[in-house]
This record gives sequence, C-alpha cells and structure tokens, in this order.
Amino acid sequence: MSLSISKDRAPWRNLLDSHLKQTNGYEFTIATVGYDSQERLVPRVRTCGFRGFFPELELHPSGQKDMDQQVEDGGNPYLFESDLLTFTTDVRMEKLEQLESTGNHIEAMFWLKEVMVQWRIKGKAYSIGSPNPESESECGLRPELFEALRVKEDYRGDLSGDADKWTWEKAVTKYFANHSPVMRGSFRNPPPGQPRSQLPSNPDLRLGQKVTNLHDPVARKNFRVVLILPEEVESLDLSDLDDVRRRKWTLVMDEDDEDGPHGKWEETEIWP
Ligand SMILES: Cc1cc2nc3c(=O)[nH]c(=O)nc-3n(C[C@H](O)[C@H](O)[C@H](O)COP(=O)(O)O)c2cc1C
Repeated sequence: MSLSISKDRAPWRNLLDSHLKQTNGYEFTIATVGYDSQERLVPRVRTCGFRGFFPELELHPSGQKDMDQQVEDGGNPYLFESDLLTFTTDVRMEKLEQLESTGNHIEAMFWLKEVMVQWRIKGKAYSIGSPNPESESECGLRPELFEALRVKEDYRGDLSGDADKWTWEKAVTKYFANHSPVMRGSFRNPPPGQPRSQLPSNPDLRLGQKVTNLHDPVARKNFRVVLILPEEVESLDLSDLDDVRRRKWTLVMDEDDEDGPHGKWEETEIWP
C-alpha cells in the first residue's frame, strides 16, 4: 500500500491553525461510509474531539506528570510534526470497522463560527495503538505513516540520538495521557452500542471508572488514535457575505522518486 502524503508543510495549514486558535470548541464532525443491515452503502457521521496534528499535543500538567512518572524520558522528544489530523476513539465503536471495510475514506468537517469559516478535509484515516500491532495491519502501516512526519524546523536537539528514542508506543500513550482519568476510564465501559439490558460478563467493564495507569491493559486494548491523511481540503469563508470565498487544495501525487510517492498541494479558488 502507498499512502498519499506530502513532505512539505501543507499550504492550508497556517490558515487552519489560525482559525482554530480563534475558536472555543475543538470538536469536528467525522463522516465515514458503512453498510446498513441490508448491506447497502450508507453515510455515517458523528462528533469527535479534535486532538491536533500528529504527534504534537500539549498536555495538561497532570497528564505530563503521569507521563514523567510512567513513561521513559516522560515521552518522545519533540522532534516531529505533520499535517495529519487526529482524534481518539474506542476500537469497539463502529467507525473503525466502517473505515477498514470501505477503503479508509473519511471526511472531517469544522464549522468555526467565531471566524465564520467551514473547513472540510477529505482523505484516508488509519488507527494506531493496538496492543498487538504485529498481528494487525498497523505494523506494516507504521513505516508508511512515518513518511508523513517532518523534523520540526525549530528542532535543536540531537537529531539522530533523539530519533532512536522516538517510538509509536510513546506517541499513543501521550494521547491516552491527554485524557482525564475518568475519560481514560471510558475505555473500560461496557461495550458501546450494545443494549444496556445486557450486563457484561467481564467485571472489568463498568461505567464511571477512573484510570491513572497509562498502561492499563483493559483500557489500552480499546483505545486508538486515528490519523487522518488529508487529500483534499476546502475552506468556505462566509465572513463577508458580499464576497464569499471558497478555496480548495488538492494533493497531486508525483511519480515515485527514490523515497516513494510524494505529493504536491495545488490550490484553486472556486465559486462558492
Ligand atoms: C462533544 C462530543 C465529543 C465527542 N468526542 C468523541 C471522540 O473524540 N471520539 C469518539 O470516538 N467519540 C466521540 N464522541 C461520541 C461520538 O459522537 C459517537 O457517539 C461515538 O463515537 C460512537 O460512534 P460510532 O459508533 O459511529 O463509532 C463525542 C461526542 C460528543 C457529543
């Protein structure tokens, strides 16, 4: 498999970052394609919390304290950045199965009312964080996803030494640490979407648990970070209704070079 990525910072990135900074809420709408009970292809949408661009995440001091106490070096060196949008989820929910069974297609949408701009991000999405990555497709995916990471421009550490210390496991654990103990506990809930009348036979699965162990095996079995690889990004700016602006950026793939296929973003302004 070859993923569509660009090594350069995406041209839409600073604009989206600046709009997000001016916004209170960090939720976005996530659309996938799934099958209904009659095996027909159907759209599915839900709200998810946007967790920034992989792997950058500023932890709450209590989350960082947990990382310092429980993870080697307190986590990964601050070496990489990317244009991959992230959210976290429970593997038992429907969206991951929908992604995997229909080609990983996803659309994410922000309506940022403070700036009056809608952003739509179309692309592919993959989950990481399986406790058995070698037995799932994740193991083969990691080197390809790694291609989408860039060394941060202002990085001043020891590049080669620090790159050796960077691991996927620490990256995923940081997203788990980013949740409060009660939110971490939600990954030990009874199976999402199943009838409440069915009590789980596993006594570990209950509502309202608090998890302080970042490596809690029950919660981490269910916890995943989803990475969205954007292929088409569109902004619709309604801040001036006399002159509504709509811009589209498309990732156009080059021929393979020696590092594999890399794309270039092309921008078009379109009629709204
Ligand atoms: C404000 C808000 C934030 C949410 N954040 C997430 C999230 O980050 N990840 C997630 O999987 N579900 C989140 N949910 C729940 C989803 O909307 C949805 O109910 C759940 O993921 C099950 O969806 P699925 O069965 O289609 O996968 C959130 C819901 C709300 C209302």
